[in-house]
Amino acid sequence: MNVSQAIKARRSIRKYTDQEVTAGQIGEMLEAARLAPSGLNAQPWRFKVIQDQKEIAWISSEASKGQRWVGRAKAVFLCCVDLGRYMEDARASVRFLKDSGVLPPEMQAGIEEYVQKAAGAPPEVLRYAAATNCSIAITQMMLQAVELGLGTCWIGMFDEQSIKDRFSLPDQMAVVAMLAVGHPAEDPGPRPRKELEEIVLS
Ligand SMILES: Cc1cc2nc3c(=O)[nH]c(=O)nc-3n(C[C@H](O)[C@H](O)[C@H](O)COP(=O)(O)O)c2cc1C
Repeated sequence: MNVSQAIKARRSIRKYTDQEVTAGQIGEMLEAARLAPSGLNAQPWRFKVIQDQKEIAWISSEASKGQRWVGRAKAVFLCCVDLGRYMEDARASVRFLKDSGVLPPEMQAGIEEYVQKAAGAPPEVLRYAAATNCSIAITQMMLQAVELGLGTCWIGMFDEQSIKDRFSLPDQMAVVAMLAVGHPAEDPGPRPRKELEEIVLS
């Protein structure tokens, strides 16, 4: 399966069989996330893998605003960003980018100032930037899952604080999404999409 085929075959899957998701499959999805691009190569994503069926059942209740279908998933990734280390990692990464000569000369001068400014941005701006990066990693995980014959569904509707409390996530760890995974027990057709003319600005 090539990337184009995976993109076309992916669906949000909300029904799963009883077949387990293996450690190897989880590992391949995490590797797909790890290789994702990120601004300043800061890689703010962190993942907690939940496979305990009791915990998944708990997630499917109030924590996901009553999304009962989640209870049948064989794994749920808590997709987080570490806001405590975000800027520190960005700075270290910028040093590498500069020293290794990856950055074009015209970027060399301005990049430190850019990072300095970013570090002073309000927390919600940093969270937004980190979440954008994490979303790219999650997208890669979803596409990798397709190749593995797995179904995934992004869970954006959840109560962040109760997830953090339940799984003892530290304050600086923001939960930006959850990703349910399992072997598909449904084969839905494509969901509606806007026409190309609607999304391409003239
Ligand atoms: C940011 C985001 C949040 C989402 N949150 C939920 C959710 O909480 N529950 C759910 O069942 N589906 C959720 N979805 C899945 C969307 O409903 C789904 O992607 C959309 O309907 C298109 O269908 P498709 O993924 O099969 O193409 C979410 C998707 C995204 C990208």
